[in-house]
Amino acid sequence: MRLILLGPPGAGKGTQAKMLKEKFQIPQISTGDILRQAVKDNTELGAKAKTVMDAGQLVPDNIVIGLIKERIRQGDCKTGFILDGFPRNITQAKKLSETLQDMNLAIDNVIDLEVDEGEVVERLTGRSTCPECGAMFHQVSRPPKVNEVCDSCGGKLEQRPDDNKETIEKRLKVYSESTAPLKEFYSKQESLRTVEAKGTVEEIFSRVCLMIE
Ligand code: AP5
Repeated sequence: MRLILLGPPGAGKGTQAKMLKEKFQIPQISTGDILRQAVKDNTELGAKAKTVMDAGQLVPDNIVIGLIKERIRQGDCKTGFILDGFPRNITQAKKLSETLQDMNLAIDNVIDLEVDEGEVVERLTGRSTCPECGAMFHQVSRPPKVNEVCDSCGGKLEQRPDDNKETIEKRLKVYSESTAPLKEFYSKQESLRTVEAKGTVEEIFSRVCLMIE
């Protein structure tokens, strides 16, 4: 199964992608996670991406398209994959279609997680993540058992540098200008499924699974 998760920052793409990965045993490919890892590792890619990410803007298309082209050709993607945070604009979507066509493959479902702006701001400002294992928490909806400590590995939880009010506003603007038009792009291809992304994580997961099974 090849799946795209669409939705604004904080819609729950990463949360749902991790659950889908477990259920269907296919990899989650998050361009945001790949870029954050590059920043952490101080690579050339990380140096290019950091300023752009901290400003809430999109990393240049050629960089992310190159990353995805390489990633989906890896062996663990043979039975499928979940794209989380890619594509982010029409150029990226067209390049993805071309690449998949060259490989005689296609996307099966595009799931759009629909949630209002007030809710996403609340989710993002309350989010913390474990830099060691990637586990995700929220101060209200999924608090860690011990304050600022990861339940899974004991790592010290961090807030993402782009999860502040000013940058969240910029990310939401970029989303509505560049990413939201993908809904029309994929609905024309009849692969778009809209899921109401309000409610508990488990409720949303059930809705997503109903759409794709
Ligand atoms: P990226 O990492 O993709 O960030 P994003 O799209 O802004 O999305 P988020 O990760 O913030 O949110 P999410 O929808 O995954 O929500 P989550 O599950 O974490 O991108 C970061 C940056 O990298 C971009 O700004 C850009 O610079 C660059 N980039 C990445 N991809 C790119 C591309 N393709 N092209 C160019 N640049 C690119 O949930 C959020 C919080 O809410 C968590 O705390 C979670 O616990 C909580 N939560 C989740 N579900 C619920 C629920 N149902 N109820 C209550 N709380 C919930």
